[in-house]
Amino acid sequence: MIKKIFSGVQPTGNLHLGNYIGAIKNFVNLQNEKNNFCIYCVVDLHAITVKQNPNQLKRNIRETTAAFIASGLDYKKSIIFNQSLVPAHSEGSWILSCIARMGWLNRMTQFKEKAGKDKEKASVGLYIYPILMAADILLYDATHVPVGEDQKQHLELSRDIANKFNIDFNSPNFLVPPEPLIQKSFSRIMSLKDGNKKMSKSDPSDLSRINLSDSIDQISNKIKKAKTDTKPLPDNEDELSSRPEAENLLGIYSSLNDQPIDKTINEFSGKNFSNFKEKLASLVVEKISPISSEINKLLKNESFIDKVLIEGAEKADKIATEKIKNIKKIIGF
Ligand code: AMP
Ligand code: TRP
Repeated sequence: MIKKIFSGVQPTGNLHLGNYIGAIKNFVNLQNEKNNFCIYCVVDLHAITVKQNPNQLKRNIRETTAAFIASGLDYKKSIIFNQSLVPAHSEGSWILSCIARMGWLNRMTQFKEKAGKDKEKASVGLYIYPILMAADILLYDATHVPVGEDQKQHLELSRDIANKFNIDFNSPNFLVPPEPLIQKSFSRIMSLKDGNKKMSKSDPSDLSRINLSDSIDQISNKIKKAKTDTKPLPDNEDELSSRPEAENLLGIYSSLNDQPIDKTINEFSGKNFSNFKEKLASLVVEKISPISSEINKLLKNESFIDKVLIEGAEKADKIATEKIKNIKKIIGF
């Protein structure tokens, strides 16, 4: 059976090692598996749910696209496009917002986190963000959606919307409830400064994350300065739960070296952090630096990136417009 894969990344700048290990690396693996048809979207409509600087947004859309390509996504094999070029996403989002219930949205924990204390001042877009995400997925009959743990609840909502639509309009199996694909290991890369906090674009300390645009010196320096504890590296996996920084750094090493964590533990058990950090830094440099130099090279050729997005959008538009046509027919328009 063919798996239809859809996923999206917001063009909000500062793409980092967490985005690469938790999302983009996995996108590439899925693209290269047999019988998968993949669509990867730069979700610029989602980005404007919080205030953006227009020039910066334009740069970030290109940067995210460049990161996709530099990491190994192939625009000839997969569809790569930005959401705002395909009007069906906005249109579908409106229609699905008449299916989704207030009560469902009120349970979304990401809105509560992002809106913070002053939720009266959050945009309405931020509140209905998961409905746009449902439209993204359902317009393409995506069967599988690779996301991080934090997006699981939004995917449940997409399933609920699909099921309610199918029941309300007596159209069984018309909208396809998607399955989440959540990586079992390394799905949460943590801050280099605090093993209990997620590595994040918005962390004010640049030392907390490895950006995909960092130079070799920056990468080495950040790993050298990464927080650790004072004990030697553990000799068993159980010990990791009480040593978040060790767990994170060993996880990064394992993921980039494509090996299970116990193999990494065996390799470094009893050694001190400075020794391990040297190996880790050269591995991160080996895997990430070629990607950053490719991103920088691609960013010098804006017209190429724009062409990839426009051609991808033309392919996406064909699929999405056809689905919207059928949705409208079912609804009675
Ligand atoms: P975001 O940066 O929040 O737009 O996320 C883009 C993708 O990267 C999503 O699939 C996230 O789940 C994933 N992601 C973001 N931060 C991390 C992290 N620290 N560890 C693992 N995955 C992450
Ligand atoms: N909300 C997702 C995130 O912040 C991004 C996203 C938008 C997405 N639309 C999607 C992910 C559709 C998967 C499928 O990471």
